[in-house]
Amino acid sequence: MGPGFAKWIITVAFCWFIQIASGNSVEQKIYVELNNTVPCVRLLNATHQMGCQSSISGNTGVLHLLETDSDLDIILNNGLHAPYMVLMDASFFNSAVMMRMKNSTRVAGVAVVIPNSSPVQGFSPHNKCPNQYTGVYSDTYGPRLADCNGTVWNPLGNGLSFEDFKFPIFSMNDDNQTAVIRKCISEHNMGVNGSAPAYPLCALQLFSHMHAVTSTATCMRRNDIQNNYSLNPETVCDPLGDFNVWAPLHPINTTAKGHKANESVVVAATRMDGRTFFWDVATGAEGTVAGIVALLAASQALKTTAEQAPPPRNILFTFFQGETFDYIGSSKMVYDMDNNNFVIDMENVHSVLEIGQVGLRRGSELWMHTDPVSRRNNISVNQEVGNILKGMTSAGAELGLSLAEPTATQALPPSSFQRFLLSRAVPGVVLADHQSAFNNKYYESVYDNADYLNVSYPPDLTLEEQLEYVTDIARALTNVSTLVARSLYLQAGGEESQLENISADSKIVTQLLYGFLIQSNNSYFRSLTNPEDKLLLEARAPQYYVGVPISANTIKPSTRIVQYLLANYLGNSTGLNQSKCQDPSGLPEESKELYSYLWVRGANGSEAAPFCVRSTVRRTLAISPAFELKQYDSRTYSTWTESRWKLIRARIFLVASHDLEMLTLGVGIAVLLLSLLVTYFLSTKAELLFAPAQESTGSAY
Ligand SMILES: *[C@@H]1O[C@H](CO)[C@@H](O)[C@H](O)[C@H]1NC(C)=O
Ligand SMILES: *[C@@H]1O[C@H](CO)[C@@H](O)[C@H](O)[C@H]1NC(C)=O
Ligand SMILES: *[C@@H]1O[C@H](CO)[C@@H](O)[C@H](O)[C@H]1NC(C)=O
Ligand SMILES: *[C@@H]1O[C@H](CO)[C@@H](O)[C@H](O)[C@H]1NC(C)=O
Ligand SMILES: *[C@@H]1O[C@H](CO)[C@@H](O)[C@H](O)[C@H]1NC(C)=O
Ligand SMILES: *[C@@H]1O[C@H](CO)[C@@H](O)[C@H](O)[C@H]1NC(C)=O
Ligand SMILES: *[C@@H]1O[C@H](CO)[C@@H](O)[C@H](O)[C@H]1NC(C)=O
Ligand SMILES: *[C@@H]1O[C@H](CO)[C@@H](O)[C@H](O)[C@H]1NC(C)=O
Ligand SMILES: *[C@@H]1O[C@H](CO)[C@@H](O)[C@H](O)[C@H]1NC(C)=O
Ligand SMILES: *[C@@H]1O[C@H](CO)[C@@H](O)[C@H](O)[C@H]1NC(C)=O
Ligand SMILES: *[C@@H]1O[C@H](CO)[C@@H](O)[C@H](O)[C@H]1NC(C)=O
Ligand SMILES: *[C@@H]1O[C@H](CO)[C@@H](O)[C@H](O)[C@H]1NC(C)=O
Repeated sequence: MGPGFAKWIITVAFCWFIQIASGNSVEQKIYVELNNTVPCVRLLNATHQMGCQSSISGNTGVLHLLETDSDLDIILNNGLHAPYMVLMDASFFNSAVMMRMKNSTRVAGVAVVIPNSSPVQGFSPHNKCPNQYTGVYSDTYGPRLADCNGTVWNPLGNGLSFEDFKFPIFSMNDDNQTAVIRKCISEHNMGVNGSAPAYPLCALQLFSHMHAVTSTATCMRRNDIQNNYSLNPETVCDPLGDFNVWAPLHPINTTAKGHKANESVVVAATRMDGRTFFWDVATGAEGTVAGIVALLAASQALKTTAEQAPPPRNILFTFFQGETFDYIGSSKMVYDMDNNNFVIDMENVHSVLEIGQVGLRRGSELWMHTDPVSRRNNISVNQEVGNILKGMTSAGAELGLSLAEPTATQALPPSSFQRFLLSRAVPGVVLADHQSAFNNKYYESVYDNADYLNVSYPPDLTLEEQLEYVTDIARALTNVSTLVARSLYLQAGGEESQLENISADSKIVTQLLYGFLIQSNNSYFRSLTNPEDKLLLEARAPQYYVGVPISANTIKPSTRIVQYLLANYLGNSTGLNQSKCQDPSGLPEESKELYSYLWVRGANGSEAAPFCVRSTVRRTLAISPAFELKQYDSRTYSTWTESRWKLIRARIFLVASHDLEMLTLGVGIAVLLLSLLVTYFLSTKAELLFAPAQESTGSAY
């Protein structure tokens, strides 16, 4: 009994101590979870880590609202409650302020409030020269054009997305949640008449601890060691990547890889991804969606004419994934072509037409960018480029578009086409709305959204009416799509007399813009996809950050949507039922080597009318060859990885003063020591104290 009682005392004292030391239970009750936040996470390349992270137990600090320069002074220099958690309006989220915070030890973390309207002066957290080291221009290829010498494509880029912050940075929208935080600050953290505020103070705690450190080379090596020697391997980082989507106009046997005799292919390309400073937020309206929509609508416009009057050359519609991160998708496809691991090889590529940013035209202007180096070095390339330019210019004139060439010495803008040129001198053109620097003043930022392209509707329209309402931008992009479709037809050797039959449909363009920028769960997208494909359509716009393939079966929704749409536009409805659609082998007319088969919902009014689409659309892996080659420090291929983490969380609560906490801790320790002493006393004197009681308890059983 004696030692048992002593144990009980110790346990009680210990629990008490734990409770006191970890903050009292009253505080626990007033934690407010912030549910609607987005973290910045750590990304790594061959040599650096960048992004943000918290300590393993989260970063905590007293909240300070950054509204004026004097607030900045309090935070960085003379406030009494450092380290601070800074709640800032997005106007302070620029490189001057953030670099000072990065330099300071007085900042525990930052919460950025994203306003509902965009900054007029522009904002781009990307760098000034996107994909600077993995494009075609280098010391050995057009050295005078390398490193954006001459043309800085993204002059507003402040490079914040490439900085390594030692503290967490979260974003939140300006809504009820920020109202809760502001209220907490104004009630507890505002000093009266300029005096320092008194405890208890409102504090913010952010968790975003990252597992990977230093660089991709380091974290991939750690992954490998774990995989080889640990029974329970823990991955610390994953390569960025997803899938490219592509479809030839005429079927190509996909079983046979490598060079195809008699196959000459015009590649029609655009990119499918974008990014922002924050994780998995990327609306990319001008940067990404304008190109996707223009090329999809062009494929739809081409189909009928291409079947009735097939051009001699094939056209390969290609949507590259991960281009934002040093051309992941295009470098993988070119690598596969060069290694006879794709359905065609580089010799089969006749030319390339790439759709860049095309949503922000100034008037009727469009620009045809070409590569001065290959044109100068190779007469036949120069001639073919000349043909393409001539075709596009005349097709544009028909449509009232004025197409122009930038100066003959200007480099190509950042584009997938550069990865083709790295392999071979291919003729090609990149179509864009800008002559030199981007028109897009929100490149790779949260403000490159539907509003920026004026995709908005009169207030009294229902969802169905919005879906069909042709906006100005839809009309403008329809024109671009028609131009692209006609140029591709000419580039593939089609007859000029057929051009007037090729026209993009403004209703389709407007529905595509709605689905890609407003909300993907709409009746149009539903009718063209498989209702059993869960998590595909959402009540918001798809996000275009490439992300990591969590397992072989997780493919980005945006990728699959593009695949479905392209299949519907280029393919035919077949009479196959659902099970035959999944596996048509054995049927005489069908071939999985030439075609792919997708089951889609269809629409008959609002009723489903499902059918099987046969098309040439395929998906192939878009993961940088660096990971296949295990060259984690590669300079040629993308090496981007994303760190793993366990917990992303944000919450606010009130903190007592540091002195008070110390006092509580001191009292706790004193109580513990006292109880130990008492316990010692009790156990040494137990016989004396409890001897009579011991006998009576014994008889109680
Ligand atoms: C977050 O969600 C929890 C549980 O659903 C709720 O109690 C809390 O109030 C929410 N926080 C905010 C700021 O709305
Ligand atoms: C950061 O701190 C270093 C050393 O104190 C200083 O030289 C540098 O100018 C600071 N940078 C910024 C952006 O404040
Ligand atoms: C940059 O371009 C200018 C003009 O073409 C040229 O004189 C200069 O040498 C180039 N700089 C580099 C580093 O190549
Ligand atoms: C990795 O990113 C850092 C920061 O942007 C950059 O300075 C460095 O050149 C990059 N490394 C490679 C190999 O591209
Ligand atoms: C925000 O608060 C207003 C009024 O309190 C309420 O009507 C609205 O539903 C709230 N919005 C969200 C997203 O919780
Ligand atoms: C703050 O200052 C004003 C004017 O100086 C004074 O009237 C007021 O009483 C002060 N408030 C407190 C709480 O000290
Ligand atoms: C892990 O195993 C693979 C194949 O067995 C080997 O190539 C690699 O070098 C090993 N990595 C480490 C870090 O031991
Ligand atoms: C596709 O190519 C494979 C391998 O060359 C061949 O066996 C197969 O018959 C071809 N299929 C068709 C439909 O041409
Ligand atoms: C390629 O075309 C030539 C002439 O048009 C024809 O003789 C030959 O059989 C074709 N080859 C293949 C593999 O289709
Ligand atoms: C020019 O380019 C064509 C097509 O890419 C290629 O076949 C030819 O060998 C090149 N000529 C020279 C002189 O590089
Ligand atoms: C959007 O509307 C504004 C104001 O009417 C206009 O200045 C701008 O050019 C429009 N943008 C596009 C992409 O149409
Ligand atoms: C669709 O049907 C047209 C006309 O019958 C045909 O030319 C084309 O090859 C078919 N395409 C596919 C993918 O089945």
